[in-house]
Amino acid sequence: MDAVEPQAPIDEVLHQGTVDRRPPARSTVRPPPLAAETRSTPFGRVAFAHPAEAEFARLLDFYRIAWHYEPTSFALRWEDDRITEMFTPDFYLPEHDLYIELTTMKQSLITRKHRKLRRMREVHPEINVVLLTRRDYYELLARVGYGAVDITSLPASDIERILYSPGEIADRVSELGADISADYAGRSIVLVGLLKGVTYFLADLSRAVTRPLAIDYLAVAPPHERQTDRVRFAKDLDLDIEGRHVLLIEDIVTTGLTLDFVVNRLQARRPASLEVCVLFDKQERHLIDVPIRYTGFVIPNEYVVGYGLDYRQLYRNLPFLCVLKPEVHARDHRARIAAMNAAT
Ligand code: IMP
Ligand code: MG
Repeated sequence: MDAVEPQAPIDEVLHQGTVDRRPPARSTVRPPPLAAETRSTPFGRVAFAHPAEAEFARLLDFYRIAWHYEPTSFALRWEDDRITEMFTPDFYLPEHDLYIELTTMKQSLITRKHRKLRRMREVHPEINVVLLTRRDYYELLARVGYGAVDITSLPASDIERILYSPGEIADRVSELGADISADYAGRSIVLVGLLKGVTYFLADLSRAVTRPLAIDYLAVAPPHERQTDRVRFAKDLDLDIEGRHVLLIEDIVTTGLTLDFVVNRLQARRPASLEVCVLFDKQERHLIDVPIRYTGFVIPNEYVVGYGLDYRQLYRNLPFLCVLKPEVHARDHRARIAAMNAAT
């Protein structure tokens, strides 16, 4: 996370003589603390440089993902014995051996950051680093309870573009149904839909499958419903799936955190088999690898609504899949109301 907007080349602050690494390797130099929110964690007190980082840490806590804040600095460039450029990713997720760098810089200003990431991948190809951009971050905020709740219609000016028409979606769903029917020849299936986004997809897909099947539903309590601070089922299965062939149906995968949790829980109930079918997959955003057997569409890294998918519970009933303008997620609640009032 960048505590300061990057007019000055703050990233190039020299850490002279702190570490000598040639060939380059991990070092453990910590940058000076930058103030801001302090929190107790299982790993001690952490001073976050930016509120967005504290928020992201809460999201990881919610999903029971262990994390360390800025544990490692990597040498990127060096002259003789001096390191001239370093990179300290914001988070490390030990269970996934993954580093995450957050940036809330404007899209137009992150070129430098991307260059740094590229350099990082050249010099330390064995290290997994993911960059979460401003837009990714707003999307996460929307999921943990930030933003407007009282939109009653979709202003056309909020739609960036339509990704898939109702016809394209119907064709692909039929194909998936045919594939599933062939693969499960001679077997019956329990289709498990993850509520609520899966509503239309499950209704259409189940009618495209020609095998005998049962339908059941699961719901995962979203992070902003704070009855608990850990991910849990808000609705569990009615059916016993032990010894059954289970096909988990999900509307959309972004990070894979939700699927990972659900798959692990279902696996523990010893189904005869467990496969995953996802209609929309934002593959480039995966943080966690979840084996997906059937994929409808691989879609770009943009927030989408329609055909069951919502933004703050709205837009599910649009018959197509569309991208909302990024500003829709960033817009402050009051600013939104004011703009709507001014327009009418
Ligand atoms: P994940 O845990 O990051 O993979 O997110 C999965 C859940 O986030 C989905 O089940 C959706 O409920 C929600 N979600 C992720 N991306 C979108 C989107 O673009 N539109 C609507 N909901 C989304
Ligand atoms: Mg869902």
